[in-house]
Amino acid sequence: MTGAIVGGSRLADEVARYGWYHTLDLGGGVVTRGMFDHRPAVGRYLIPSDLTGMRCLDVGTMDGFWAFEMERRGAAEVVALDIDDAEALDWPAAQRAKVVKTLDETKGERFALATKALGSSVRRELRSVYDIDTDLGQFDLVFCGDLFVHLKDPATAAERMRAVCRGSAVVANPVKRFWFAGRKPMAELDGIDEFQWWVTNSAGLQRLLLAAGFARVEVGREFELPATSGGPWKGRRGVVRGWVT
Ligand SMILES: C[S@@+](CC[C@H](N)C(=O)[O-])C[C@H]1O[C@@H](n2cnc3c(N)ncnc32)[C@H](O)[C@@H]1O
Repeated sequence: MTGAIVGGSRLADEVARYGWYHTLDLGGGVVTRGMFDHRPAVGRYLIPSDLTGMRCLDVGTMDGFWAFEMERRGAAEVVALDIDDAEALDWPAAQRAKVVKTLDETKGERFALATKALGSSVRRELRSVYDIDTDLGQFDLVFCGDLFVHLKDPATAAERMRAVCRGSAVVANPVKRFWFAGRKPMAELDGIDEFQWWVTNSAGLQRLLLAAGFARVEVGREFELPATSGGPWKGRRGVVRGWVT
């Protein structure tokens, strides 16, 4: 049935007003047609299946898929961090005028609609990853998906995540294989026309977390993210999990 009423309108009609980044099952047969459907890959992300009682932070939440997933896994509190102002993203200067910002302009509305439809208690916090600080409190799990690739300075982002982490942090990101690298951490700066800054290998993600002060960092198996579309960001993902002790 698709008759659920949200804000006075049928949920399905509300959902159809937007282009979605995440495929979200909002219940009652309403599923958003996201640019990315993470559902078949959730088991690859090194996020514990049971988060009962934990305080979790989702950095760069977009439509909220990972925040809602952490809540579904039992988190006691989930804070979903994002920045609303499309102009405040780390666009390369040469890209600023020509990028299509539609998905960024309505992400707050989409997140609010999904929150209401799911009856979720996730709290959205408007703040850049660079401005994460201890006034947010400490988190048992900090998650950051597909954001480092869009940051000019992922090392500072990792440091800010470490500052509020009392358990572990998971970073997932598009990764690249460098045939000559072996196990060396590598990064390439070759995609800024597609708005990606540093594309690393998995060892590079691991190095970023170690440099940020995580005591040990597990490197997950790389995998292909199934994407209906996703432009240059579809494809191979790396995932690492760092612990503070
Ligand atoms: C490519 S989407 C990834 C969405 C989601 N984390 C995932 O893994 O599917 C990037 C998200 O990070 C947010 N973002 C970009 N720059 C940011 C920054 N400096 N601080 C916090 N969030 C940021 C964007 O607004 C967007 O919600």
